[in-house]
Amino acid sequence: MFSLKDKVIIITGATGALGGAVALSMAKAEAKIIILGRNDELLTQSLTALRKYTEAEAFRVDVMNRIALEEVREKIKKHFGRIDVLINAVGGNLPGAVIPDDRSLFDLSEPDFDEVVDLNLKGTLLPSIVFGKEMQLQGKGAIVNYSSMAVDRIITRVVGYSAAKAAMENFTKWMAVEMALKFGDGIRVNAIAPGFFIGKQNRDLLLNKDGSLTERGEKIIRNTPMKRFGEAEELSGALHFLCSDSASFVTGIVLPVDGGFSAYSGV
Ligand SMILES: NC(=O)c1ccc[n+]([C@@H]2O[C@H](COP(=O)([O-])OP(=O)(O)OC[C@H]3O[C@@H](n4cnc5c(N)ncnc54)[C@H](O)[C@@H]3O)[C@@H](O)[C@H]2O)c1
Repeated sequence: MFSLKDKVIIITGATGALGGAVALSMAKAEAKIIILGRNDELLTQSLTALRKYTEAEAFRVDVMNRIALEEVREKIKKHFGRIDVLINAVGGNLPGAVIPDDRSLFDLSEPDFDEVVDLNLKGTLLPSIVFGKEMQLQGKGAIVNYSSMAVDRIITRVVGYSAAKAAMENFTKWMAVEMALKFGDGIRVNAIAPGFFIGKQNRDLLLNKDGSLTERGEKIIRNTPMKRFGEAEELSGALHFLCSDSASFVTGIVLPVDGGFSAYSGV
């Protein structure tokens, strides 16, 4: 029911913590994996790991470059013949778009804010348009985006990231409706909303050098009923479900994978 065997799956940001984990888990499920990233060395390392389990390819491409994405799409079509799934795991933050406790909104770096909004919104929109076009021609496909806990309730400091993910979540639902109304029931667009997972971007915010929790890390664990951070592999089940044909009537949803964070009032 949840089979991904032989599905052609593109993963952006696949050299990152969360994108890398899902690439490996889908490779083990015998999907054909295409990883996109910016760093040749990391792409080669990931490709070697994936090829132990399945057919895989890697392309160095900036997801903000539509022309470059279109060139990659043509190569993928030539090699694999179709595109079944797109997982948009690119996303991130910048120091100037974060407001530390000793500063305020009035110190915001506008260029950093713009860059974070672009990366998280257009970094999802552009691959969705470029690879989604192929899905439209096929009449079938699934897209899954990465939202955040910062969308529904305010998380202090991360002003740019929160605005960007909120817009991206709206776009996820918008595209889901657009695809279904204009092209039928074959193309689905959904998102997952991870709770808190230790990655490159947030490690220093959540953990001290000795591995103990920072004050912010403590606040998060206090507000997570399961009392721990997530492990990257724990996103795989939700992603396998949303990408498989078992989710054939599921579109426009945002599935939290968060140890109960979004359900909890903190009281
Ligand atoms: N880690 C968490 O706790 C968490 C929580 C909620 C949501 N998310 C979201 O999940 C997604 C993955 O997060 P992660 O922790 O794996 O991040 P990460 O920084 O480990 O990985 C992101 C990857 O995207 C790549 N990338 C960035 N800009 C790019 C560009 N322009 N073109 C191509 N590649 C580019 C980076 O090189 C990196 O490999 C992101 O969208 C993030 O916002 C993460």
